Amino acid sequence: MSKSTNITWHETTITKQDRRAQNGHGSCTLWFTGLSGSGKSTIANAVSNELFRLGIHEYVLDGDNIRHGLNKDLGFSEHDRTENIRRIGEVAKLFVDSGNIVTTAFISPFRSDRDQVRALFEEGEFIEIFINCPIDECERRDPKQLYAKARRGEIKDFTGIDSPYEAPEKAEIIIDSSKVTVDGAVEQILNYLKGKNII
Ligand code: ADX
Repeated sequence: MSKSTNITWHETTITKQDRRAQNGHGSCTLWFTGLSGSGKSTIANAVSNELFRLGIHEYVLDGDNIRHGLNKDLGFSEHDRTENIRRIGEVAKLFVDSGNIVTTAFISPFRSDRDQVRALFEEGEFIEIFINCPIDECERRDPKQLYAKARRGEIKDFTGIDSPYEAPEKAEIIIDSSKVTVDGAVEQILNYLKGKNII
């Protein structure tokens, strides 16, 4: 629901198609979703490295980083997470319009939030990547010691402990990060992009 009235949409002369043609590759969102500690940021960063090395225009939007700036007014209630994902979706759409391959690494625990972001994009532009890692393994890794804090009751609404995670039902790519190496995950994602003629 928009609060502003008397606003018009301006079409620019240079279009998304023009930018793609100039770049020599397509643009899309690689939307990672998964538990904290599942490896989203690590794999997103490795994909970004590889795309950059190939001369592709790319950018990473990462959960913890965006929460330092654009979304620093948001916490981890259901309402705030929904708003977090809505804003990231809109930013990702701008990146895709600008001709980039944008990788987003947010837990994005709610299916309906992810589906609303998907609906912002044209067919094929939103690629949902489920970083599927058993919670036991995420908790064993616990790189930021957040599961330990959540277990002690020092963090409330922690995903997987006392806040739900709804796994995707129609992810384009599923990566079992407890079995696949980071390089293997990168290869799987790049092969998908090649198969769709995006790169
Ligand atoms: S999301 O649910 O709104 O998509 P987001 O990906 O932006 O979450 O942020 C998750 C990161 O915030 C986690 O990787 C973790 O470092 C930190 N964090 C802090 N509190 C919580 C919490 N209650 N639940 C999940 N992650 C948390």
